[in-house]
Amino acid sequence: MPVSEVHLIEHPLIQHKLTLIRDKDTGPKEFRELVDEVATLLAYEVTRDLPLEKTEIETPIMKGEFDTIAGKKIGIVPILRAGLGMLDGILKLIPAAKVGHVGLYRDPDTLEPVEYYCKMPTDLWERDLIVIDPMLATGGSASAAINFIKERKAKSIKFVCLIAAPEGVERLQKEHPDVDIYTPAIDEKLNDHGYIIPGLGDAGDRLYGTK
Ligand code: PRP
Ligand code: URA
Repeated sequence: MPVSEVHLIEHPLIQHKLTLIRDKDTGPKEFRELVDEVATLLAYEVTRDLPLEKTEIETPIMKGEFDTIAGKKIGIVPILRAGLGMLDGILKLIPAAKVGHVGLYRDPDTLEPVEYYCKMPTDLWERDLIVIDPMLATGGSASAAINFIKERKAKSIKFVCLIAAPEGVERLQKEHPDVDIYTPAIDEKLNDHGYIIPGLGDAGDRLYGTK
């Protein structure tokens, strides 16, 4: 069976900033700024395959045909709440994208995702979607979010995170073999509470200063 691709993004700027994000002494303000910056850098990678077309323009010297992006309709879907931390950083590079939201939290006992919100652009069927969430741990939240989106029939879906666990990568690839994963890090494993080791802790709590 065909399996999705995992794009491991090892750019030094991203790796450096990710280390600062992981550091427990990085407070919410700096954490938010760094997540925003890394999201912008990841957007650069995830849009690498956008098709181009020739457009005629006139430089101060002469007329000519030059590359422009070929009218691609993109949607960004943050998984609430922590996915919101990556949204503005991605919109900086793709400002015309529409935004859908999926609200999910992970039940701390069962580790299963619980849905509380879903609102998608109406023209989903003609949009290439980028689903964003800093953490791919068990993969339950990402997989459930993508299920909701697929019920509404998007054209294509990519998943972007900051840190993945091998368990989450395996589950997402198994349950959604058509969804490529973009991540700067695949960490060692999950601990008994489903947290990524070494990871960065609880992404939502670190973004918003909650506990
Ligand atoms: C975190 C994270 C992912 C999920 C990953 O969200 O942002 O959505 O856990 O874990 P999984 O891969 O095992 O499902 P959380 O449930 O803590 O909710 P929050 O974003 O509202 O804090
Ligand atoms: N959710 C988080 O925020 N962090 C983890 O390590 C795992 C799930």
